[in-house]
Amino acid sequence: MPNINDVKCILIIGSTSGLGRGLALSILDLPSKPTVIVSGRRQERLDELTSSHGADGRLRAVKPIKLDVTADRVTLKATIDDIIKTYPDLDAVMFSSGVQYGSDFCKPETINLDDFFVEIHTNYTSVVTMITFFLPHLISLGESGRPTFLYTISSGVGITPGPSVANYSATKAAIHSLSISLNVQLKEKNVHVVEILPPLVESELHDGQGTAETLSKYWMPLTEFTKLTMAELSTDAAQIPIGMAAHAYEKYEAGKLEAADKFYELQKVTFNK
Ligand SMILES: NC(=O)c1ccc[n+]([C@@H]2O[C@H](COP(=O)([O-])OP(=O)(O)OC[C@H]3O[C@@H](n4cnc5c(N)ncnc54)[C@H](OP(=O)(O)O)[C@@H]3O)[C@@H](O)[C@H]2O)c1
Repeated sequence: MPNINDVKCILIIGSTSGLGRGLALSILDLPSKPTVIVSGRRQERLDELTSSHGADGRLRAVKPIKLDVTADRVTLKATIDDIIKTYPDLDAVMFSSGVQYGSDFCKPETINLDDFFVEIHTNYTSVVTMITFFLPHLISLGESGRPTFLYTISSGVGITPGPSVANYSATKAAIHSLSISLNVQLKEKNVHVVEILPPLVESELHDGQGTAETLSKYWMPLTEFTKLTMAELSTDAAQIPIGMAAHAYEKYEAGKLEAADKFYELQKVTFNK
């Protein structure tokens, strides 16, 4: 199966910090020299990425796009159409945008439902929306013989929920389930869906909850995560569980992708009758 080394132009949504940024810089270093489009809401971070990494010979191909994934659907579609027009070579999209909020259901009065809806939209429904908008282009390239890629990022807590981040865990379970269905459906279109399942990793994700200092005692350093993930991205793996997430994956997920594959074949036969 084709892999990251076949990618010519990748857009990484949510690459102004954390996992997306780490992977963007590593992908820039690949011998295949892909163009890497970095994206997020913070213009100063995009400027930093392009000024410090875009100008020299090593990182000649980093391009910035300011994008808020929670923008309304019309705006999002126009932005994506524009990206495809500017970069017709775009053959891969990685979704690393995400937010996380804690919730204590023992104190229901403290739960901020506005945060819940933002979390669901940022982490899940915006991703489905964007995938839907990117797919005509990716399928068209795929059918012309060029492999294309969708990279999703779920989480170990999408397998074993982290109760203190209940809604976040539910969004990651949704991304995990979606990734399996897309993988099964889209392979016949030469669109390869690869899901990364990180463990707790050093990033800015937990900054808003004031838990970063405590979590920093347990999280995987970003450089280690990036190294392990890049090694797996160079294989034909469709699911990439890392660190502690790999333990949960082995215990609860073994065989699920294959089972979904068989289920889809059965559904096709049933619906065609
Ligand atoms: N760190 C972990 O322990 C961990 C574990 C498992 C999975 N993950 C997942 O990994 C992905 C990356 O998270 P991270 O840990 O790297 O956190 P991070 O450092 O906070 O990065 C999150 C990224 O998402 C972007 N983002 C957030 N809201 C956005 C919006 N409305 N529009 C566009 N971009 C938006 C941010 O950019 P701007 O703020 O500039 O918009 C930033 O680039 C997320 O999907 C997260 O759920 C993380």
